[in-house]
Amino acid sequence: MTYPIYVYGHPVLRKVARDIERDFPDLDTLIADMFETMYQSEGLGLAAPQIGKSIRLFVIDGKPLGDDYPDMKDFKQAFINPQVMERKGDRVPMNEGCLSIPGIHEEVDRESEVRIQYYDQEWNFHDEVYKGYKARVVLHEYDHLDGVLFTDRLYPLRRRLLRGKLNDIGKGRFEADYRTVLPNGR
Ligand code: NI
Repeated sequence: MTYPIYVYGHPVLRKVARDIERDFPDLDTLIADMFETMYQSEGLGLAAPQIGKSIRLFVIDGKPLGDDYPDMKDFKQAFINPQVMERKGDRVPMNEGCLSIPGIHEEVDRESEVRIQYYDQEWNFHDEVYKGYKARVVLHEYDHLDGVLFTDRLYPLRRRLLRGKLNDIGKGRFEADYRTVLPNGR
């Protein structure tokens, strides 16, 4: 099944999400449904708060970028209880979008390298270093678990210019070809 996507202005996107336990109910189903939701809405990544669940879990599949970024082709992973250990490298700008912020794409500065620890779907522990586009997507999704959205990382002037558009999203004035949940719960 697929979930609707919670959009900008909904408080669940601003919460610091909590770690989950190994006995978390129906985790395999949840992860499968998150991948399905992400594919259907044509996202590269999806974090649990975006489907209204304030838990530390996100999924990524970089396959759609495979032609332009070959190392993304086989980058499919669920990240459970991730912990960013280190951010490295120069901050570089890259265009980002977010399923929770439909219609807005902006250049965001982020570090080019990240070291992250997490558990996969089988609860195997990983300690990985990602660079380039992988680091970009991981850091974007990881932000969601801390209640941070990419628009928070824009320069203040740019953010101010977007304020009207962001408010519009919260009021349901946007186009998206996937189901959504507005801040008022509709
Ligand atoms: Ni996002």
